[in-house]
Amino acid sequence: MCGIVAYTGPKDATPFLLEGLARLEYRGYDSAGVAVAGRTGGIKVRKVKGRVADLAADIPARFKGTTGIGHTRWATHGVPSDANAHPHLDNAGRIAVVHNGIIENADELRVRLAADGAVFRSETDTEVLAHLVAAHAAEGGELEDAVRAALGKVVGTYGIAVLDAEQPDRIVVARNGSPIVLGIGEKEMFVASDVSALVRYTRQVVHLEDGELATVRADGFRTFTEDARTTHRQPSTVDWEIDSYDTGGYEHFLLKEIHEQPGSVERTLSGRLDERFATAHLGGLNLDARELREIRRVKILGCGSAYYAGEMGAQLIEELARIPAHSEPASEFRYRNPVIEADTLYIAVSQSGETYDTLAAVQEVKRKGGRVLGVVNTVGSAIARECDGGIYLHAGPEISVASTKAFTSTVVAFALLALHFGRIHDLSPADGRRIVSALKALPGQIREVLAQGDGIAALAAEYADSTGMMFIGRVRGYPVAREGAQKLKEISYVHAEAYPASELKHGPLALISPELPTVALVPDDELLDKNLTTLGEIKARAGRILAIAHRRPEARLADHCVLVPKSEPELDPLLLNIPLQLLAYHAAVALKRDVDKPRNLAKSVTVE
Ligand code: AGP
Repeated sequence: MCGIVAYTGPKDATPFLLEGLARLEYRGYDSAGVAVAGRTGGIKVRKVKGRVADLAADIPARFKGTTGIGHTRWATHGVPSDANAHPHLDNAGRIAVVHNGIIENADELRVRLAADGAVFRSETDTEVLAHLVAAHAAEGGELEDAVRAALGKVVGTYGIAVLDAEQPDRIVVARNGSPIVLGIGEKEMFVASDVSALVRYTRQVVHLEDGELATVRADGFRTFTEDARTTHRQPSTVDWEIDSYDTGGYEHFLLKEIHEQPGSVERTLSGRLDERFATAHLGGLNLDARELREIRRVKILGCGSAYYAGEMGAQLIEELARIPAHSEPASEFRYRNPVIEADTLYIAVSQSGETYDTLAAVQEVKRKGGRVLGVVNTVGSAIARECDGGIYLHAGPEISVASTKAFTSTVVAFALLALHFGRIHDLSPADGRRIVSALKALPGQIREVLAQGDGIAALAAEYADSTGMMFIGRVRGYPVAREGAQKLKEISYVHAEAYPASELKHGPLALISPELPTVALVPDDELLDKNLTTLGEIKARAGRILAIAHRRPEARLADHCVLVPKSEPELDPLLLNIPLQLLAYHAAVALKRDVDKPRNLAKSVTVE
């Protein structure tokens, strides 16, 4: 999704802008641009459809300025093109704007501005902002007042950075639904939509709140509200390691992040297991035992893989705490006027903490008086701030568009929550101990699966040329099948469909043929016999089968098998999912896909 960077200080802004934009490439984009201003010469702009490297190649040596803004665009209004790329300028070339989000009343504003003489050079909603700010700046006064006045006329979501040729010592930024982070340097200031763009320059950051603006100068910043009241913000320190933002010798971020899972799971568990009482401690829930006992239902909300991790979480909560739990796509929930119940606990799941659909779902629950916990990876993110409490994953930054280590850590966080809930309800100490030991064993067991990478790569190469794949699992295995199919689709572009194994005979069995292989989740649990019967039904229709199992099925039932170590049945899904991550990764590599930046997708979806 779109990215923003900005700089003001004593140095030339361009190198930081280009490096910052390159750091944001992982979020997905189709064009890039920069604008700089200095004490002389107005605003210089360069923007191109294509990669940040194309932009860098297009920048002449004389392109210099001590204050600048940059952007990577992911098209929403208008096709990817040089003209539609940001920054956008007003007609006099005084104001330059970069923008993430959507201006909903752009058409109406465009008509009014055109009537006043503005000439539009792009199809974007953002360009109206440049003309609007310029119209107010022409009245005189401070840039921040012109930006506030312009935003007062705008309906929509935005993170923006604004540059003024006549006030080149500052940038004005604003946030409403799309993140903006200020980075505090030594007599220089940085701005970005994501800390990964500025973490090499400073660890001291301020996350703007929705409805907040800031004027940023080399010697500091001032934050204020849309009605000009000053706000007081204390910087926080980014504690993620800088090398999390590099591939660290791996060919792709995705492979690195898959291999980081033993460590990221250890961090999610760290300090949270209580062996004495066979439970888990979760400091940030902000709910005492009495309040937890009053909860009658759990509703989990997330999008994409976060929603599937929520499905695994719901099963863990039902099985261990015996509280009815259900996961729903936040993107649907927010639009269906949901009934919010006082004795339901709502849980929002998000790696980035910035997914707009999930944030809007949280706001809908809170507006109706519900209580929401967050299961979030990014500390200080919008969703984390909006929730009443929650669990941080501590999985470390996830750069690749496909979620892997955050997915696994989310399921681990749900296991901790389910254990905590369960031990407050009726889960016996013996069952609590069983889950505690299984959780402790997970990092080592994940390592065992990862050690099979070469074998899984060979299987992936064999299956990658299929026109499609079926993923099946029963009960605990079904969310694994859904996540496995999603991962394969998004990075290899091979069509994949997930079905409950029990439902196959009610329709999709008609699809089974040698051309449509099946990935079958076959755990050694109480449903093993049922799963083996389904494998027999597929083989009877000449379907090829790759089984992910604890015990190798008879050769007549599966063409190939990946064995995973056995955990406790409630936690088996987590380990069964790891080979599917590797399968998707190696299929994408075999098909020569852009693994970390799949087509049409963005790392965090901050628009509706
Ligand atoms: C995961 O592989 C996907 N790229 C996507 O489904 C993602 O999980 C979803 O967009 C939610 O993102 P979030 O966890 O940052 O909210």
